[in-house]
Amino acid sequence: MGRKFFVGGNWKCNGTSDEIKKIISTLNAGQVPSQDVVEVVVSPPFVFLPLVKNELRPDFHVAAQNCWVKKGGAFTGEVSAEMLVNLSIPWVILGHSERRALLGESNEFVGDKVAYALSQGLKVIACVGETLEQRESGSTMDVVAAQTKAIADLVKDWTNVVIAYEPVWAIGTGKVATPAQAQEVHAELRKWLQANVSAEVAASTRIIYGGSVSGANCKELAGQPDVDGFLVGGASLKPEFIDIIKAAE
Ligand code: G3H
Repeated sequence: MGRKFFVGGNWKCNGTSDEIKKIISTLNAGQVPSQDVVEVVVSPPFVFLPLVKNELRPDFHVAAQNCWVKKGGAFTGEVSAEMLVNLSIPWVILGHSERRALLGESNEFVGDKVAYALSQGLKVIACVGETLEQRESGSTMDVVAAQTKAIADLVKDWTNVVIAYEPVWAIGTGKVATPAQAQEVHAELRKWLQANVSAEVAASTRIIYGGSVSGANCKELAGQPDVDGFLVGGASLKPEFIDIIKAAE
């Protein structure tokens, strides 16, 4: 089964309403391949979700950057999966390394979030990835497998899951993984899915790469057989994002 190329733009905690409107205008004017070729999802901060949802071209979709682990209620400062569904936001990014590191989100907590978000009808971009220390100690695959296992333990239907492999050392550093490094981990992850979930899930689940993706390096990364797209941070705030979407061609 073919895996449609996927390009996500994670705007993180950036932007004023004027800046967000400018990004939307740039995206709306961009010439990109059709939805048959590439799925594009952008993820603004929560407060801008309605604005982006209303103003963005209909062939691009919107994701939240997080949601609460279970049904909403007395959880000050949180946003529930139900609220995102209520606003017709189809996607959510979960388990980003910035949240794992800065907010102490464990593998199990992320697994619970993924399962709950899926149960409410959201589609999930689930992030995994090793730190530099873990890579240098040779434990990249152990780390990534443990992060994926915490999700796989709770998720039966992978149709609405995209895995984002984001080596922490490559995020926001300008130090992109080489195409060979990315391909190696993506291929190992796919093997892991084959062995621990099913051959069908391994063949159909998109594994996208994130970490200093740019207009300059996207084409070569996209040429790797197991790289099914990107989760882009910094460059997704710039017109360059359009060039990255074109890497799908
Ligand atoms: O979610 C996106 C990643 O954290 C990558 O960010 O492209 O700024 O390195 P970056």
